Amino acid sequence: MNSEIASDQRQFETVVKMLSEAHATSVVGDKLPLYNTWAENYEKDLVVLDYRAPSHVADIISSHFTGDREAAVVLDVACGTGLVAKTMKQIGFKHFVGIDGSQCMLEVAEKKGLYEELKLCVLLKEPIPVQKGSFDVVVMCGALVVDHVGVSVVRELADVCKPGGLVCMTCRHGQDNMEYKASLERELKQMAEEGLWSCVVVREEEKWSKLVTGAGDSYRPGSAYLYKKL
Ligand SMILES: C[S@@+](CC[C@H](N)C(=O)[O-])C[C@H]1O[C@@H](n2cnc3c(N)ncnc32)[C@H](O)[C@@H]1O
Repeated sequence: MNSEIASDQRQFETVVKMLSEAHATSVVGDKLPLYNTWAENYEKDLVVLDYRAPSHVADIISSHFTGDREAAVVLDVACGTGLVAKTMKQIGFKHFVGIDGSQCMLEVAEKKGLYEELKLCVLLKEPIPVQKGSFDVVVMCGALVVDHVGVSVVRELADVCKPGGLVCMTCRHGQDNMEYKASLERELKQMAEEGLWSCVVVREEEKWSKLVTGAGDSYRPGSAYLYKKL
């Protein structure tokens, strides 16, 4: 075994350990200490997992956003270390505000110099600390997951988006997330029925990120949901 492969395998094992710990606690909001510990290695580990969600998000927004990308202001909710802003910058967006509940993830994001503002906020324990109706695009990528942030946060995402703006959300598939995903989809639909937004597109992607159980080369799918605020 050459040293590059050996080092990849050690990395993969580290990621598997991090993620099994992530799933070991089951109280919403309890994941933040884990992300504080993970922050320095998060991006390195996600390369090993071939985490593609931010690219899928950028792609779906790129296909449907019709405004001026350079002028648009994007709110990145649960921004983590800033992978979404990094990817959206590549497609022409320039103004980002980030929110996350992990101070250490925000410190890594800060170093990227991509965000005009970064705010610490434990979602659903406190309201999203921005003005209502003020963002052209609102993104929440990777945090609509069982035991992370409750489904009702999507109402706040709609609240802070400008009328006519886009809200993009993601949810990975998998047995452990099936119930959460179903309740998320019920809430998205309910909000459309209430006239808060309309569905632009829902895109299922086969390759969301690698599975941490089973063969290292298998992927789990995920979905990206794009809504237009009314
Ligand atoms: C899988 S990461 C996704 C980060 C980034 N959006 C990405 O796609 O790389 C999940 C993020 O959600 C944040 N998070 C989890 N629970 C949260 C909560 N209750 N309030 C605020 N942020 C939370 C974590 O700190 C972490 O940065």
